Amino acid sequence: MARSEILLGVNVDHAATLRQARYRGEPSPAAGDAEPDPLLFALLAEQAGADSITAHLREDRRHMQERDIRRLREAARTRLNLEMACEESIVALAEELRPANVCLVPENRREVTTEGGLDVAANLSRVTEIVARLGAVGVVVSVFIDPEPEQVAAACAAGAPSVELHTGAFANAWREPSARGRELLRLRRAAETASELDLIVNAGHGINYENVREIVRVPHLNELNIGHSIVSRALLTGVAEAVREMKARIRA
Ligand code: PXP
Repeated sequence: MARSEILLGVNVDHAATLRQARYRGEPSPAAGDAEPDPLLFALLAEQAGADSITAHLREDRRHMQERDIRRLREAARTRLNLEMACEESIVALAEELRPANVCLVPENRREVTTEGGLDVAANLSRVTEIVARLGAVGVVVSVFIDPEPEQVAAACAAGAPSVELHTGAFANAWREPSARGRELLRLRRAAETASELDLIVNAGHGINYENVREIVRVPHLNELNIGHSIVSRALLTGVAEAVREMKARIRA
């Protein structure tokens, strides 16, 4: 499905990562007024034009807490895209909260971020079950997959209306133009295959202010989900105001 304008989903996990760096272990690290509040980050992102808000509730709760997800679900004005593993308690939470979108991702507690795509082909019956359960309560489910035709075909076989193509290998090849070209081609082909199967094509992981120029050339893109580079950029573009305000309060 081609669109004239590619949408931007802003992943706010790392606002919570920064909060947890200070509040980890305290009784209510997700109290809402602890800085930086991922909900406030999300609302500002929406005001600036974000088309959806993504948050990943990981099993180890390293950044987002369940309460964050509930607050985002209540207050986000666009769409909440809940990233989650195929883990039963989180599936039940998604059934209860009914976010507009769910993106199924693999989960390995030790990895720094989501490393590879979900192997839908190898977990077809579980993924099919979750897609059906969440679809029954109105959630549009996507699967985060490596840009491989067999994974796209498996996503379709599982009944998922949407895929999110993993752009991490492309992003990691930033030093090597030929590898980057190969990865871009893989993404293009996977996007073509997905579009032929009438799947919505999203993409994400490692997209930054440089490589986005190349990513937007992938055909059939509906939405890009971007987190780390936006949160990092926001941290720097806000330095001057943050320092000025503290200085003024000290003087006052
Ligand atoms: N999409 C998925 C499925 C992810 O797991 C992540 C990382 O949490 C992203 C997009 C965003 O990646 P990044 O933070 O590198 O922009």
